[in-house]
Amino acid sequence: MKIGKSTIPTTAICTSNEDTIVVRGHDLARDLIGKIGFTGHFFLLLTGRLGTTAELAVLDATLVAIAEHGLVPSVQASRMTFAAAPDAMQGAVAAGILGCGSVILGASETAGRLFTEIDALVQAGTPLTEAATTVMKAWKAARKPIPGYGHPQHKQRDPRVDALFAVATAAGTDLRFIAIAREVESLTASLIGKDLRLNVSGAIPSVLLGAGFPLEALKGVPILARTAGLIAHLYEELQQPIGFALTYQATRELQYTGEAAK
Ligand code: COA
Repeated sequence: MKIGKSTIPTTAICTSNEDTIVVRGHDLARDLIGKIGFTGHFFLLLTGRLGTTAELAVLDATLVAIAEHGLVPSVQASRMTFAAAPDAMQGAVAAGILGCGSVILGASETAGRLFTEIDALVQAGTPLTEAATTVMKAWKAARKPIPGYGHPQHKQRDPRVDALFAVATAAGTDLRFIAIAREVESLTASLIGKDLRLNVSGAIPSVLLGAGFPLEALKGVPILARTAGLIAHLYEELQQPIGFALTYQATRELQYTGEAAK
C-alpha cells in the first residue's frame, strides 16, 4: 500500500558502511568523537552545520537552564513510574518526558511561535509595540495563554531569564527576540490584565531564535535537557527511593467525591 507521493526513504543525517559512520558529512570516529562537545554534536545533527562558538554557548546555556528544577511534575511522574517498574529506566524517562507540554516544561516552542509572529510583523515594518500588541490581542481573543510568561514559584523574577539573556549578550548573537520578549512582558499587565513575568520557557526561544536554532525544533531543548535531569533522579531513586512516598503524599488527603456503592 502506498500512502503519499514519496516512495524512496531518504535522510541527510547519517550513513554507514562496514568501516565508517558518516554524520552530516563528518567521519564520526575520525573527526567528531573527542573533537566536538555534545552540544555541538546536537547542533550539527539538527542543522547540518558546526555551530559557531557564540551559537553553541547559547544553546549550551539553555540546556543547562532547563535540565533540572527539583520535584516538578515530570520528575514525580518519572520516579513514581520507576518505583513501580524498576527494571525499565527507559519507561520511567519516557513517563517524565510525556508531560513536556504547553503548560509546564514544553512552552518554549509555543513561546517561540508567539515571538516569531511578532517578528514577522516587525520585519514587515510594523513598530515593535504595535506588532506585539496585535499578536497578543489575537492570542488573547483565541483564549490562549501567553506562553513563556508566569510561573507558580518565580512570581517576580525567574532567575534563569536574566542569566540566559546575559549569555546571549556576551556571546554576541542576534538579540532581537529578547527585545520582543521584553516588550511582551511590559504589555501583559495592560493587555492580559495580569503582571506576568518572563519564565525560562520564554527566555529559551528568546535567545535560541537569535542563535541559529530552528523554531520547529525548540521543543527538543527541554526534552533533551530534562532527560539528563530525569536520569539523575532515577539513579537517585535506586539508592534513595521516594517514588512510593510521592504516591502516598498524592493520596493521603484524597477525598472521594463520587457516589457511594448502591
Ligand atoms: N497568560 C495568560 N494568563 C495567565 C498566564 C499566561 N501566561 N499565566 C497565568 N495567567 C493567569 C491565569 O489565567 C489566572 O487567571 P485568573 O486568576 O483570572 O484565573 C492567573 O493568571 C493566575 O494563574 P495560575 O494558573 O494560578 O498561575 P500559576 O502561577 O499557578 O500558573 C503557569 C503558572 C505556568 C501554569 C501559567 O503561568 C501559564 O500557563 N503560563 C504559560 C505557559 C508557560 O509559560 N509554561 C512554562 C512554565 S515554566
